[in-house]
Order: sequence, then structure tokens, then C-alpha cells
Amino acid sequence: MAQITVSLIKADIGSVGGHTRPHPSMMEALKDVLRDGYAKNIINDFYVTRVGDDMQIIMTHNKGIDNSEIHGLAWNAFVEASNVAKKLKVYAAGQDLLKDAFSGNIRGLGPGAAEMTFEERRSEPLVFFMADKTAPSAYSVPLLNIFANPFKTAGLVIDPRMHDGFKFQIFDLIDHKEITLSSPEELNDILAILGDTTRFAIKRVFSKNEELGIAASVSTERLNLIAGKYVGKDDPVCIVRAQSGFPALGEILQPFMEPIFVPGWMRGSHNGVFYPVSVEESDPTYFDGPPPICAIGLHVVNGKLQGLEDPSSEVGEHIPVDYFKFPCWNHIREESMRLNVAIRKQGSIMPAILPPEEMEYTTRPQVLEKLKDRFTKIPQK
Ligand code: F6R
Ligand code: MG
Ligand code: MG
Repeated sequence: MAQITVSLIKADIGSVGGHTRPHPSMMEALKDVLRDGYAKNIINDFYVTRVGDDMQIIMTHNKGIDNSEIHGLAWNAFVEASNVAKKLKVYAAGQDLLKDAFSGNIRGLGPGAAEMTFEERRSEPLVFFMADKTAPSAYSVPLLNIFANPFKTAGLVIDPRMHDGFKFQIFDLIDHKEITLSSPEELNDILAILGDTTRFAIKRVFSKNEELGIAASVSTERLNLIAGKYVGKDDPVCIVRAQSGFPALGEILQPFMEPIFVPGWMRGSHNGVFYPVSVEESDPTYFDGPPPICAIGLHVVNGKLQGLEDPSSEVGEHIPVDYFKFPCWNHIREESMRLNVAIRKQGSIMPAILPPEEMEYTTRPQVLEKLKDRFTKIPQK
């Protein structure tokens, strides 16, 4: 059986009426380029969606991860969509396309990518997470709960294929180093590292069963580190394989039943609580947030995507399951809002704002410089 690769590539290239949602013609422009890529046999299938002001392209193909043709296709699609955005003068048109020309792969150019290659199982259900107003470390708490917490994920206790646990590949996003650690044996070390969300994030999770292979993949690109200044937030995506040796769908969604504090809300400088929501309702309008998290489900069939539509429907026209749309998530949204309202009362004082080195907007250095002569020494004993 051939190996199949799933690539989820995202970028914020502009929105209508503030940082809210891309214009429908921008989505159409993405689709046109991808249809062309399909016609040229570059990809097997695709789906285009969005969360808040970020656009996502899901592609299946046989070219492996970090492939220049695949990344080039996504780049061209974002360039075309940003040309539409510029014509419409939507806000922040072309924002995440930091370089003028494509080179090799999307890394370092602005967009984020989560990709995985695997041998397709008899049925291959995938969950695609998409977040706005936050950073890659936002997935640390949910992925730890899904793949390393036996009090949450029953499969870790009672499914023989999961009982040995999972391996976590962790990235140091500042020094560009990686390490792979094994859970449960090294769980305390994993937690000690991931506790620092300013530097560390999970990149991939692997099953210890080699036949199953990769379990999850996260986009870990940090926009401000690439650009050297704030241009927008990373707004990361994550793919998780579900069922049959991997966590059940319910175990994958379960961590979102509890409040998850994430960095990156309002001007990339505030902490907030994830707001699990449908794609349609993910427009961030409450203090530019709260950080929306969407989860959609599709499965892979013979290297192509399949959702709720007729199997013979046109390529790219998929109808995924939108997991957070259902009313059972209403009380979770209410709980999230209760906490978000509470943290907003703290204004721009920590912990409502991020640590100084993580603030995407700040005036503190200028203010301290301006006032430096008015600071006087306090005598110490
Ligand atoms: C953008 C975002 C927003 C902006 C804020 C200021 O995705 O998270 O909170 O940072 O609206 O945006 P500018 O500086 O573009 O006016
Ligand atoms: Mg934005
Ligand atoms: Mg965004």
C-alpha cells in the first residue's frame, strides 16, 4: 500500500471589517489554484476552510512532507488569494506572506504547515484542529491530555494498542532544537519542558506501534521570529489520526471540555481561554477573540478525502463534520466566556498580558527610556 501524505497549510492574508474572516472570493481564488494542481496531478484531493481570519488548505498527495511542489502550490494559492484581498482592500491583505518569492518550502516564508505521511488504514479518520489568536504551544495541554493522560484517555488504559503510550517530538522554537521523549516513562521530563510555553511546543506525536506510525502533527512556525517583528499571530493547526489504535474521536475532543489558557489573544499579547466553536461561528469579535478553536473531521479513502458528500462529488467540494458545532458544546463555550470575561477585568496587567519578551506589541522599552532620569535609587540596607 502506498504511503499517503496529508498537508494542512495555513495563512492569514486578510479579512473583511477587521481581523475577522476572509472574503468568499479569497476562498474561491484558493480553490481555483488547487483545482489546477489537481488537474496537473500534483495533489490527489484538497479542501479549503478557515478559522477566524486564517485560511486553511488541506491536501492529500504522494509526495511526502516538506515537498516543494506541494508547498509551492499552497504558496501560489495564497498569493492568488492575497491578490484578490489587495484588490478588495480587505484589512491586512497579504499579511502572512512575508517573502516576495517562494523558495523550496513554506518554512520561513510566513504560512504554517502541519503534515503527516502514513500508510492508509482500512478506514482513516482524521481530525483537523485550527486555532486563531494563539501560538503553537496552545496544543501542548490538549495533546498531552489526549496522548499521555490515562485519567482522560481511557484507551491508554484499556486498548492494548495504546497501552504502551506515545512518543512526543518537542521543538525548541528559539534555539531550533528538537528532542523526542517517551510517555509514560519520561512524562515528568516532558511536562517539565512543555511548561515553558514561550519556547517549547509539541511538533509530532508517534504511536509506539511502528505499523501505526505518526499520530499527530502541529504547525510550529512562529511568525514574529521569522519576520523579526510582529506581523500577526501564528494561529497554529494540528492534524490528529483517530480510532483503531489511536485515541477515539471522543478522547481527542475531550480535553476541550475543560478551559485551556492560551497565549496570543488581542494584539498577540494577551492570555485567553480557548473558545471551541464551529467554523461558521469562529469570527473573533470579542476583544478580537476569544481565541477560537475549530475541529473538523474528514477521512482518507484511497488517498482522497471523503466527508458527508456524495463520493462522486467534485474534487475539493467536501462537507466535513464540524465537531464543535453541536449544542453539547454550548456550556463549554459559556464556561470559556465566564473565564474570558474574568481575565479581561485584569486589563493589560499580567497574567492577562504575556511575559514581556512574548508581547507582540509593547511600549514599555520606550516608556522606560523616556522616564529613565526620573527613576531614583531606593537605598538598600
Ligand atoms: C490579528 C489580531 C488582532 C490584532 C489587533 C491589532 O489577528 O490578533 O488582535 O493584533 O487587531 O491589529 P492592527 O495592528 O493590524 O491594527
Ligand atoms: Mg489577523
Ligand atoms: Mg489569525
